[in-house]
Amino acid sequence: MTDADAAAPPHLLLGSCDYPEHVPQDRWTRYAEQQRSAGLHFVRIAEFAWSRLEPEPGRYDWAWLDHAIEAYHGAGLKVVLCTLTATPPAWLIRAHPEVLPYDEQGRVREFGSRRHYDFASPVYREHSRRVTLAMALRYGRHPAVVGWQTDNEFGCHATSRSYGGASAAAFPEWLRQRYTVVERLNEAWGNVFWSMEYVSFDQIRPPILTVTELNPSHVLDYARHCSSLIADFQREQVEILREMSPGRFITHNFMIFESGFDHYEVARGLDFASWDNYPLGMLEHFAPPGAGDDVKTRYARTGHPDLIALNHDIYRSLASGGAGLGREGRGTPPGMWVMEQQCGQVNWAPYNPLPADGAVALWTAQAWAHGADVVSYFRWRAATMAQEVMHSGLLRHDETEDRGLAEVRALDQSQFPAGDVPARVALLHDYESLWLYDQQPHAAGMTYWAQVVAYYGALRSLGVDVDIVHADADVSAYAVVVAPAITLMSPERAERWTRAVQGGVKLVSGPRTAFRMPGGQTWAAGQPGPLSDLLGVKLLQFDSLRPTLTQDVSGPGGAFQAQTWAESYRLEGAQATYTYAGGPLDGHAAVAAHGNATVIGAHSPDLLRAVLSDVLAGAGVEVTHLPEGVRISRRAGRTLVQNWTTERVTWQDHTLEPVSFEVLAHA
Ligand code: GAL
Repeated sequence: MTDADAAAPPHLLLGSCDYPEHVPQDRWTRYAEQQRSAGLHFVRIAEFAWSRLEPEPGRYDWAWLDHAIEAYHGAGLKVVLCTLTATPPAWLIRAHPEVLPYDEQGRVREFGSRRHYDFASPVYREHSRRVTLAMALRYGRHPAVVGWQTDNEFGCHATSRSYGGASAAAFPEWLRQRYTVVERLNEAWGNVFWSMEYVSFDQIRPPILTVTELNPSHVLDYARHCSSLIADFQREQVEILREMSPGRFITHNFMIFESGFDHYEVARGLDFASWDNYPLGMLEHFAPPGAGDDVKTRYARTGHPDLIALNHDIYRSLASGGAGLGREGRGTPPGMWVMEQQCGQVNWAPYNPLPADGAVALWTAQAWAHGADVVSYFRWRAATMAQEVMHSGLLRHDETEDRGLAEVRALDQSQFPAGDVPARVALLHDYESLWLYDQQPHAAGMTYWAQVVAYYGALRSLGVDVDIVHADADVSAYAVVVAPAITLMSPERAERWTRAVQGGVKLVSGPRTAFRMPGGQTWAAGQPGPLSDLLGVKLLQFDSLRPTLTQDVSGPGGAFQAQTWAESYRLEGAQATYTYAGGPLDGHAAVAAHGNATVIGAHSPDLLRAVLSDVLAGAGVEVTHLPEGVRISRRAGRTLVQNWTTERVTWQDHTLEPVSFEVLAHA
């Protein structure tokens, strides 16, 4: 493998996350050689090693890491090094307790685990730059070092926002920059409501501990402020690494469904995005909407294919564009890595089952099909100490090979070539909409991710490949664009969507699209605000449905029952294609079509599938109705057919063993 292959390998390559500081030195060479002989090419190290690299202020101990890196290098592995800032050591915290972050109860979050810092802390920023520079000077040009990971999992353990200390102190100034005069802030936030008006920016605190509901506009701006702090924090590290470690890539390992910051903003300046894929833990936390315990049980040993695929597609497109928003056109190849891939059981979900036989191989193949260039397993050897002793690795505690490693060894990496994911459908995504949507769900379970998962799952059940792109991206090259939950609408965004639709793109939008202005308020002239002409409707009513309360809907695709949410429209140019029957919405439009634009107001996965399959067919996108648990994904001229069930399935002329895949050259 050449250095160029490190950033753009010819086919999928594998790696693992290793912790030389956790084991005696006599293991380092042996582990490195074992990793190579298992078919691994990369190793990611040192993200939590600060206390060993700088045991006292300013006294660095590089010797052990020098040796560890030489051991990997000697075995032919490429090293991804990390900046150290996820775990500031005790000496730093005790000398500067003001670095510690605050939780939503206004309490200090203490030393003793990880991510215990405030992104805005000036002292911490200084240490972050200093220790990043020291690492970059020491290893930035080492021949084994091919790239960098900044920090580790921004936002993990609810650490995107600190609600006190430096982040809180910096908020008034951030607001001053945004609004200039406090009257404009009062206007944008609607502070006349409940007499919440301020007379100076300095009166404004983080949105916590109020007697009742927070003002959504206040929450939105604090989220924006904290997001920009993360972006600034990382940018300082990136600038140092670019200068001191030329030719190496820089990435960050983002998380499953992390919602605390704007990933497009934070990915700007990285070469590509990575993410950490833990399918079984993810299912426990993010079962698809409406899914009962039966779904969690059915997929307990594989994870749910659509939840995993959705995250792959978010991070692939974050890198290769969110259409240009995630990259700075530095000429490096787009791509995506799975930096941490579950390879046994995890330790952090309510239940932590063992994966099914075949699951580790299936996860790896799926990652490739959704754009991964590298899959790196977490972790090489199971930890024998501290918080994660219940977590698996490729090696067990006793250093024998665990089940996942047998699957990794058996993979033929060359059957997974590099190349494009040929998506003709884009799903629009936007973190500001997410923050607003989830402020006032209005019906339990009516969350941003629930809507996105419902639409995305419907598309995947129709055999369609999807790019997930930012709501302001240029989507003119797609056949169909789906906007499940873009509730924040600016006139500029509306204008962009209108141009795309006029240019021939078919748009499908979900409930509450364009419900709010960029400040968080709704439109005085009615919803969907500046999108009204494009959609040819005005919102009439919205209904919140408790479990078992349903609303009948019917149209050309049949009769359906809306659950959780049903909104109706006054037609102003559009045609109703589905209509409500009975109840307060009787006779009103549930789905309306206006030229190339379709709006769906009723939440029903089956209705969604019916409407989407018509729109896709109308746009010339191939639709394949897939059985439950069977999925197809395309990349580089090949189709990956996947069986996520624990039974043998026959689909078209393929018979697939339980939890397995086939790679086909597509016609
Ligand atoms: C990730 C984290 C790793 C490890 C892993 C356990 O979120 O980055 O350090 O804690 O989870 O599943």
